[in-house]
Amino acid sequence: MDQVEKVIDEKKQGKPLLTEQKEGNSKKLFIESYGCQMNMNDSEIVAAILAEQGFNTTGDINEADLVLVNTCSIREKAEQTVRNRLQKYNHAKKHNPKMKVGVLGCMAERLKAKFLEEEKIVDLVVGPDAYRDLPNLVEEVEAGRDAVNVILSKEETYADVSPVRLNSNGVSAFVSITRGCDNMCTFCVVPFTRGRERSRDPQSIIEEIRSMHDQNFKEITLLGQNVDSYLWYGGGLKKDFHKASEMAQATAVNFAQLLDMCATEFPKMRFRFSTSNPQDMTLDVIHIMAKHKNICKYIHLPIQSGSNTMLKAMNRLHTREEYLELIENIYKIVPEMNLSQDMIAGFCGETEQDHQDTLDLMEKVKYSFGFMFAYSERPGTLAAKKMEDDIPLAVKKRRLQEIINLQQEHSLYRAKEHVGKVQEVLIEGTSKKSENEWKGRNTQNTVVVFPKEHYKIGDFVNVKIEDCTSTTLKGTAVGYSENN
Ligand code: SAH
Ligand code: F3S
Repeated sequence: MDQVEKVIDEKKQGKPLLTEQKEGNSKKLFIESYGCQMNMNDSEIVAAILAEQGFNTTGDINEADLVLVNTCSIREKAEQTVRNRLQKYNHAKKHNPKMKVGVLGCMAERLKAKFLEEEKIVDLVVGPDAYRDLPNLVEEVEAGRDAVNVILSKEETYADVSPVRLNSNGVSAFVSITRGCDNMCTFCVVPFTRGRERSRDPQSIIEEIRSMHDQNFKEITLLGQNVDSYLWYGGGLKKDFHKASEMAQATAVNFAQLLDMCATEFPKMRFRFSTSNPQDMTLDVIHIMAKHKNICKYIHLPIQSGSNTMLKAMNRLHTREEYLELIENIYKIVPEMNLSQDMIAGFCGETEQDHQDTLDLMEKVKYSFGFMFAYSERPGTLAAKKMEDDIPLAVKKRRLQEIINLQQEHSLYRAKEHVGKVQEVLIEGTSKKSENEWKGRNTQNTVVVFPKEHYKIGDFVNVKIEDCTSTTLKGTAVGYSENN
């Protein structure tokens, strides 16, 4: 596994997710999640739905009545990880023959009933839009029958389900605002596994944040495959917006307006969002970020490649020049903004010159962070159907390593920019390296560690940054911030 992918995997990959136990619930649910933040949030929704059906979560697979794994299809490696987990479940089943096994998420959607044939251990297959049907499906499985629901929906946003916060630090939480993606990047399986784009009622988003606020959460990340495309016009698919009534169109809420609403309504909470697609990002959003101190000055702005030929082949609907212009405009409005990227090395037909264009673009932007991958062909995508996966693995890996090495230089460069400044940090927990130090993040999403003193989790603290590595800032607290 390449270095950066390993870091991401370790951070995200499943630990059994645990929640508060609900009195009277006698059945045990073991649930783990792989892949993106939205999967983590979906598992919280699933746990909430199943809590109503008598299930409490457990961290011990050997006592579970139901084992669920929320899966990712984004790269072949992600799917292999899940297959390996299923082998482990096979082992557990020998000790715990009553346990039933269900597969959720993108692999469920991609493989559908084939899963039941390919993996004998699997009893239940449920796609990302069908979690509301889980009570019925689980009943089927308990009666000894296999159950499958992978129907994608035009409407489903789980707006009325309050997710139970799993493994939560009690400080930061995710709130999903859009589901699905209409962008059809040629390499990407997400439009097939998560369906068409639809947005969630802003009122239900505000209410969910209010409940988080009342439980003392301090930071919310608004989630979507493509948050800048958020558009609420009373429900329905984004692509059907033009069919809505004049009234519905005139009163529609876009992403900039939603951000404005959230930041205004909860001035003591911090807001983040992910992911932004450059072609859908508007400067209105940047102006709203500039207007509110409590919207974090950080944008994850994937580009995938610095070459116009590759961007076109990938069906990314902008050029390298338009992307650089967007960034220039972002800095004009919010000079302290930090940016991160996703890059794919070795996409179909990528020449050495295309790769150099990627390195050159990185030099121009100098991102603070990056998530970098070797291209992995996904069945069913346009690239798999129409283009040849023609870059040898060794070349993909070499190019990826060059991208990773350059990113590490830039991460250090950006980290050094913080040294000497006093920055507001929200304390999220104890530093992994030292019991005596807190860990939190500044507004730009860079991790900061500092001695604990009398501060506690959830405090907003001003920290003088004294030193750094490429991934972590080190400092000393100088007092509570005004936000505290
Ligand atoms: N909009 C989404 C993107 C999901 S995929 C979001 O919310 O983040 C995350 C990243 O995985 C993409 O930006 C891309 O860099 C990478 N990726 C997607 N498909 C891939 C593939 N077939 N091979 C390698 N990397 C891929
Ligand atoms: Fe995938 Fe492109 Fe959407 S990367 S999630 S199709 S924006």
